[in-house]
Amino acid sequence: RVLILDFGSQFTQLIARRVRENGVYCEIYPCTVDPSRIADFGADALILSGGPASVFGEGSPQAPTVVFELGVPVLGICYGQQLMCHQLGGRVDPSDEQEFGRAELTVTDDCGIFDGLFAPGTIEPVWMNHGDRVMALPPGFRVVGTSGNAPFAAIADDERRFYGVQFHPEVVHTPRGAQLLRNFTHKVAGLAGDWTMAAFKDQAIARIREQVGDGRVICGLSGGVDSSVAAVLIHEAIGDQLTCVFVDHGLLRAGEGDEVVSMFRDAYNIPLIARDASDLFLGELDGVDDPEVKRKTIGRLFIDVFQEEADKIKDARFLAQGTLYPDVIESVSFTGGPSVTIKSHHNVGGLPERMNLQLVEPLRELFKDEVRALGRELGLPERLVGRHPFPGPGLAIRVPGTITREKLDILRKADAIYIDEIRKAGLYDVIWQAFTVLLPVRTVGVKGDARSYEYACALRAVTSTDGMTAEYYPFEHEFLRRVSTRIANEVRGINRVTYDITSKPPGTIEWE
Ligand code: XMP
Repeated sequence: RVLILDFGSQFTQLIARRVRENGVYCEIYPCTVDPSRIADFGADALILSGGPASVFGEGSPQAPTVVFELGVPVLGICYGQQLMCHQLGGRVDPSDEQEFGRAELTVTDDCGIFDGLFAPGTIEPVWMNHGDRVMALPPGFRVVGTSGNAPFAAIADDERRFYGVQFHPEVVHTPRGAQLLRNFTHKVAGLAGDWTMAAFKDQAIARIREQVGDGRVICGLSGGVDSSVAAVLIHEAIGDQLTCVFVDHGLLRAGEGDEVVSMFRDAYNIPLIARDASDLFLGELDGVDDPEVKRKTIGRLFIDVFQEEADKIKDARFLAQGTLYPDVIESVSFTGGPSVTIKSHHNVGGLPERMNLQLVEPLRELFKDEVRALGRELGLPERLVGRHPFPGPGLAIRVPGTITREKLDILRKADAIYIDEIRKAGLYDVIWQAFTVLLPVRTVGVKGDARSYEYACALRAVTSTDGMTAEYYPFEHEFLRRVSTRIANEVRGINRVTYDITSKPPGTIEWE
């Protein structure tokens, strides 16, 4: 296994993904972690990430010395490379000329991480993002690659198996970067690369059995990928000691509630309590137009209803959640300052304490795409595993302004048409998330020969890797024309269709 020490780079999670894609398990610790935890991790190799700091900055983070004393290979990336030089006896200087973006690496010598990949003389596109630069190497190191503005773009000490690169091998703009990381883990550190989803599944099942024993587990199902995969995995581990609870808040898309029930209860034979609480939710949301009040109301009611249903399951001791690795990684921040709440995300936080339940979180080591791979390993249908994310508060935040059953019905019909066309065009899987928003505006149109006065809707489709940033999807005009015609013709209540061309930032993905 590999340990990645995070110095605050925005790419640290990408390093972890690349390492895992190469079949090697890895975790990320913040660079400020207690050094004993680094030793206890039992790493076969260490990677020091990049970071925004300068090694000269006051209080700039250092690598704990244990990193260089474990006798395992170490790869420093960008800031990580500068730290290695700084801490092992070399010299780093602030540079006037910064190098950002595309650069060319000229390979000048062989070394472990270049083995079979880059021969001397190779000129390789790489992606740089740095200010300071290495000026003199620590004892034992030699230069193996240079670039325009970085005479020490790649350095190596094959004896101690320490390597440093000024560029970022983890980003796609360094086309052979993943192979370079593979060389580090496979050839230099000698790892077999046999961490697969099949292996993970077996381990996860064993761990669930060990944690739960003969106890009862409750799992909240939403119909989304994460809770579905968690439920099926846990069911495979402990069978009917698991009961799922599905709360229908009346804010789901067309047919969604029935789909969840028929799939889990009928196809998978998982004990399932389904509660239709739509009257309660829609009643309390009546007249509410403030997005934060909507979110908080839904969150509060959800917890109440969930608890009511869960209380019916006698002797439950565990609550299963589909928590993912990005929610768990302890982050380091050098920018300081309080972060602002953009939206209060609705989840079941607070429930375990209130119900005195212990958490079972079998996905907490996985990234989203790995959860999908695990779902496939468990035999879940592609239609479920490849689903777009859907927010906890559901359609409530896709109807800006006040919510009524009528508006929800109109929105469901438009959304179903939009998604149907996206699937037919073969675009569903290249889009991160697509949905329709019902605008609180009515506009004048002509339908048939008559005047119409109906709602306008907005179509949203974005690409993203993690939902943190997003680009709107550049549909062909012909596609937009088709969707617009179908919605305006087939949905009573909508006579105007618009396409949202805002990226995130400055927009967010959802409208509320
Ligand atoms: P925004 O709108 O903040 O959304 O750009 C980023 C991602 O998060 C989803 N989202 C939510 N998910 N509960 C959730 O479980 C929420 O309250 C919530 N709000 C937004 C959104 O759909 C997108 O994928």
